[in-house]
Amino acid sequence: MNDALGSPQSVLVLGGTSEIGRAIVRALVGERARLVVFAGRHPESMDGVVAELRREGASDVEAVRWDANAVGTHREVLGGLFSEHGRFDMVLVAAGLLGDQKVDEHDPESAAGVMSTNYVGPAAAMLVVADLLRAQGQGSMVVLSSVAGVRVRRSNFVYGSSKAGLDGFCQGLADSLVGSGVRLMIVRPGFVHTKMTAGMKAAPLSVGADEVAKAVLAGLRKSSPVVWVPAAMRPIFAVLSLLPRGLFRRIPG
Ligand SMILES: NC(=O)c1ccc[n+]([C@@H]2O[C@H](COP(=O)([O-])OP(=O)(O)OC[C@H]3O[C@@H](n4cnc5c(N)ncnc54)[C@H](OP(=O)(O)O)[C@@H]3O)[C@@H](O)[C@H]2O)c1
Repeated sequence: MNDALGSPQSVLVLGGTSEIGRAIVRALVGERARLVVFAGRHPESMDGVVAELRREGASDVEAVRWDANAVGTHREVLGGLFSEHGRFDMVLVAAGLLGDQKVDEHDPESAAGVMSTNYVGPAAAMLVVADLLRAQGQGSMVVLSSVAGVRVRRSNFVYGSSKAGLDGFCQGLADSLVGSGVRLMIVRPGFVHTKMTAGMKAAPLSVGADEVAKAVLAGLRKSSPVVWVPAAMRPIFAVLSLLPRGLFRRIPG
């Protein structure tokens, strides 16, 4: 069960190899999480983190195969995990793909892969998770959205639009969960230093994965519906959202 401060004992991570996901899980194990299941395309690559979390105090850690884009398997795979482990207090949705905008805007298949991995697949999985958590009567979903979806820019509109879709979906899903005992928290980081952004020029106000984890734990404690990382992103995007298109288009980056 989540305790009064929103801290879970059991966590399922969709997109188990995500560096931000792992930082969040490490922080949760530092509190009271004991059961952790990482679900991802390459469970064999998760041996290191499984061993590390066991050393850090998690009693039950495993990695299983799950592909965000295999929508037809979501009910069976995710339902199977809930049946096997009894319950999950928190499901973290971390799967995502940055893509390569220069390629994607001319390659429909590549673009569709980014859009599907960031929006269609995770959203479909969340429908299944929402039903499973509703049946428990308690639990939380934490979803890694992005400021890129708050106002979509010319420079990364394939990725940004997929995050905009995911973010909008999560807002509606969160509203549908009111009164069910289940909560959904949207996390909107700016630029985070992980393997996803390796080799890229850091955007202003860039953070590390541990900073995202800290903000997520604070958000869980306060039952925040939305967490911006860093917090300054919120007023910045409030202003950016109001800029006329012609002006917004001229902002570099
Ligand atoms: N880093 C940033 O600047 C930043 C900023 C805002 C939001 N975010 C979001 O935060 C989330 C985590 O990103 P991160 O920075 O931790 O990057 P990351 O380490 O690259 O994590 C993304 C993970 O998604 C997994 N993934 C990709 N396709 C998948 C699929 N079809 N099925 C299941 N898993 C899949 C990848 O695992 P495999 O390749 O092993 O399958 C990868 O480990 C993403 O949703 C990202 O969009 C990141």
